[in-house]
Amino acid sequence: MTAILDLHGDEPGFGLALPALYNLVYCSRATPGVDDATVQRIVATARRWNPEYGVTGILVFGSGIFFQWLEGPRDNVTALMSRLRSDSRHDSIVLLSEVEEVRERMFPDWDMELVTSDHIRDVLQDALDSATDAQNAKALSVLLTELDAAL
Ligand SMILES: Cc1cc2nc3c(=O)[nH]c(=O)nc-3n(C[C@H](O)[C@H](O)[C@H](O)COP(=O)(O)O)c2cc1C
Repeated sequence: MTAILDLHGDEPGFGLALPALYNLVYCSRATPGVDDATVQRIVATARRWNPEYGVTGILVFGSGIFFQWLEGPRDNVTALMSRLRSDSRHDSIVLLSEVEEVRERMFPDWDMELVTSDHIRDVLQDALDSATDAQNAKALSVLLTELDAAL
């Protein structure tokens, strides 16, 4: 079921009806033998299926670790997560965050963008520069501050 919230008054986005967005973030470890060609095949699969299910996001791959940001309708994202859990190309899946919120998509144009770990800062900065949703902008600022502190 998709919840619709009508925003009223002086809320940002007044007049828009945004559907609830399910956002799931996890990291995992690539299994032995997974190379760049394998990752390209994963991204090709994602780009074939994600538009049909209204799923967008990014897949970061570096040093044998995957990090994936998924957003879309709850049922579709959880169904994808079940498929991901039984995919032998990765293991040790750790769920980092799972929330349902009424907000705009963080990555509206990306069916599944592959990002190398050294480009993640640019990706987050671009998302912040084009964020129209105050919640998204705040979350991205926090991520960027944490990333910079870790460098
Ligand atoms: C790290 C990783 C990320 C993936 N991301 C997606 C994705 O965003 N969308 C997708 O349809 N499949 C993705 N896949 C592939 C799925 O696990 C699965 O192979 C695919 O959905 C096809 O499902 P099926 O094998 O049950 O037909 C990913 C796989 C891995 C290992």
